[in-house]
Amino acid sequence: MENKVQLLQPLTHIAFIMDGNGRWAKKRGLPRYLGHKEGCERIIEVFDLCKEYGVKVCSFYAFSTENWNRPKDEIRHLFNYLEAFFKREIDHLMRDGVRVVISGDMSRLPVKTQNTCKKAIEQTKNNTNYVMNICLNYGSRDEIVHASKEIATEVKEGSLKIDDITEELFSNHLYTKGLPDVDLMIRTSGEERLSNYLLWQNAYSEFVFTPVHWPDFKRDAFEDALKEYNNRQRRFGGLK
Ligand code: IPE
Ligand code: IPE
Ligand code: MG
Repeated sequence: MENKVQLLQPLTHIAFIMDGNGRWAKKRGLPRYLGHKEGCERIIEVFDLCKEYGVKVCSFYAFSTENWNRPKDEIRHLFNYLEAFFKREIDHLMRDGVRVVISGDMSRLPVKTQNTCKKAIEQTKNNTNYVMNICLNYGSRDEIVHASKEIATEVKEGSLKIDDITEELFSNHLYTKGLPDVDLMIRTSGEERLSNYLLWQNAYSEFVFTPVHWPDFKRDAFEDALKEYNNRQRRFGGLK
């Protein structure tokens, strides 16, 4: 492919905020849920693009802890599409050696959704080529509180000393345990905020915001984001 972007710096983990499904649908005179349907189609396509560029880990923000504030019907549709996504793509993910991770509090999800997620996690647990991290009922603040409680419990029970609490140990209590920090965070639909997404993991990532709505986020928009990333100078607090 002659127009392929040449990556100029390491890019291991991309985190997407898949935003704009509702506005995409509204623009077409369609109900919001059809935006989610179309949006779910993009997940595997964008994941494949990432693979093509050698990106090993992709995170997708699918449902936030704040999204419970939406109409029940919209939420139901969204979970149904996510379930259908896993059922449809599981063979594809297995073939490519993709490990599925779900970040978030799964216990609040409908049982059917929980079971589909657990099945995907179990089936792909030994895959080592790539990681697909779906953030579902995910909120960074919830994640940090959850990690703090786990750590506090270990200290209370005597299995952990306060002096042993390091950044690395803390990371290993997050939903994303074992995954590398985010290198590039891409949010679609023109909103320029984090909306409680991977606050810890995005500490030193590059942010790219695109006006394109998630259902329209295809190769061109993705490669534009890579070009923007190429132009960033990552200093991590040092000098270059
Ligand atoms: C993102 O699209 C998907 C979820 C938040 C679940 P939205 O549904 O937020 O779409 P807009 O922002 O209303 O257009
Ligand atoms: C963030 O999008 C959550 C997901 C994409 C799942 P929202 O549309 O919920 O975020 P806000 O409310 O505009 O900040
Ligand atoms: Mg939105």
